[in-house]
Amino acid sequence: MIVLGIETSCDETSVGIVCDGKELLACVTASSMEIHAKYGGVIPEIAAREHIQAMTPTLEEALKQAKLDWQDINAIAVTYGAGLGGSLLIGVLTARTLAIIKQKPLYGINHVEGHVYANFLTSTSLSGYKLPTKQPEFPLLALIVSGGHTQLVLFQDHFNYKLLGQTHDDAIGEAFDKVAKIIGLPYPGGPSIAKVASSGNGKSFNLPKSRMQNRYDFSFSGLKTAVLRATQQLVGVDHTFPSYRLAERLNASQKADIAASFQHIAIETVVDKTLDAFNTFGPKSVVIAGGVASSSELRRQLSERLPIEIEYTDPKLCTDNGAMIATLGCYKIMKHQPEAPPYTLEIEPGLSM
Ligand code: KG4
Ligand code: ZN
Repeated sequence: MIVLGIETSCDETSVGIVCDGKELLACVTASSMEIHAKYGGVIPEIAAREHIQAMTPTLEEALKQAKLDWQDINAIAVTYGAGLGGSLLIGVLTARTLAIIKQKPLYGINHVEGHVYANFLTSTSLSGYKLPTKQPEFPLLALIVSGGHTQLVLFQDHFNYKLLGQTHDDAIGEAFDKVAKIIGLPYPGGPSIAKVASSGNGKSFNLPKSRMQNRYDFSFSGLKTAVLRATQQLVGVDHTFPSYRLAERLNASQKADIAASFQHIAIETVVDKTLDAFNTFGPKSVVIAGGVASSSELRRQLSERLPIEIEYTDPKLCTDNGAMIATLGCYKIMKHQPEAPPYTLEIEPGLSM
């Protein structure tokens, strides 16, 4: 069974095609990231406009990559939340229209749940992907770390999961993006912090870890403020100094040390909690999902501390993509989940797990 997945929740227009929930047949992504980088973050109106322009060519390119026609596609899956309203609307309206015209069943996908399913892809004939050799097993502990979410979720089975904890304020990816802005690194902050952190000393600043009432909950706004204060102190100004002018007073080695210290503590925080949940619930598998799951520091710390072996998926499948949406779509069919109504499926920008 072959599912085509459409993802437009933020700034990536992506179409993936997946067979039986494990074989990647195509994944084509057009990103408007470069335009947003100029503004230091995603501008929703621009993202929506770019989706309109990219949607049709991305769909055509994905079918071409999979060497398939519409008649080979068994169903369409689409992200209907969470995300930016204008962006979600383009994907959902496209999917609804295609479902009606091509007469395919339609499945609405929760974007965050979709991220987890990137880990179920284990084979492909496409070049440039390094996939795990086997699928994760249940019970499955998932650490979801993206620009919009930071959650620990325990899956007993497909579509049977419990949210153990989540962030009370910023998502970890958002913290990477904000810290990058403070020290003058380009958006998105995750990759640019990782790059300069490699030459910095991760122990040069003493940054705090938040303590939460629910031990699986997260908070990153205090850490971000601590980085701001440490930077102000380093360059000898107080909190009244405009923060957008701090970066010009930092030299490359100071930026590297701040980046490395922040990255180390932010990643250690999520690894601490993942390990804690692992020890409490004893899952058979652990997966990481979302944009921050492409962090090599996260992979390094987690592999070092987890007592079980963990296979990571290709970083290209960690950031937003249509393949993860198509994969979850396959399981919706295989596990007899309800179809979405093609004439009325609505977006849900605030959808949670
Ligand atoms: O999942 P995603 O593509 O979009 C959302 O659903 O939010 O995640 C994007 C986030 C951004 O905040 C970006 O800074 C972060 O993922 N990110 C990283 C890395 N690559 C992307 N964070 C840390 N290290 C990375 N290597
Ligand atoms: Zn995402």
